[in-house]
Amino acid sequence: MMVHIPNVLTATEVAHCREVMEKADWVDGRITAGHQSGQVKKNLQLAEGGVAARELGALVGAALEKNALFISAALPQRVFPPLFNRYDTSMTFGSHVDNAIRAVPGTGQRIRTDLSATLFLSEPDSYDGGELVVEDTYGDHSVKLPAGDLILYPSTSLHHVTPVTRGVRLASFFWLQSLVRESSQRSLLFDLDTAIMRLNQEVPASPSLVMLTGVYHNLLRQWAEP
Ligand code: NI
Repeated sequence: MMVHIPNVLTATEVAHCREVMEKADWVDGRITAGHQSGQVKKNLQLAEGGVAARELGALVGAALEKNALFISAALPQRVFPPLFNRYDTSMTFGSHVDNAIRAVPGTGQRIRTDLSATLFLSEPDSYDGGELVVEDTYGDHSVKLPAGDLILYPSTSLHHVTPVTRGVRLASFFWLQSLVRESSQRSLLFDLDTAIMRLNQEVPASPSLVMLTGVYHNLLRQWAEP
């Protein structure tokens, strides 16, 4: 399941991110890559744990915490502190799968990566190429979103970023462990929650809504691993 989450950041927040990133120091993106992905990764990252990454990571984290669509789709249990990358012209990230387990720096905590996320920070018309392509059994899905929008996709998928051929592509990226490990169950819960929210608008007084809400929570109770 891939979910597009619009307007995670406001235009002002995106502008602030870009301003901080313009002045920041960049390191080779292979620093967070595994053995296979390190061979196909050619981009830059803000130093993990550096001042810029920490400040912007907190900004993105706070925005995610209040985003109802993100919470409904991801059912996040633990979110990796957001990282930030930059693809200059000719930079790319070849096909790879994300590491299954990630240590959260400075916490001794580990997370299982159930979902991967990319938050776009450059406007799509400011660069060419740089599409995130997620490969699944239904084919390739090419994603290039407005600045401030986020795509959630399964960490189990092979994916790549096509070479940037003009301009600069800035983004934030991170992983998360979901309360519901199985993606088919998470997808059912998301559909059910979406339908309940729509019914709340259409027939707010219906007693059936109470039952459906009960079903949602009781499925979550069965499937969640808090
Ligand atoms: Ni990846």
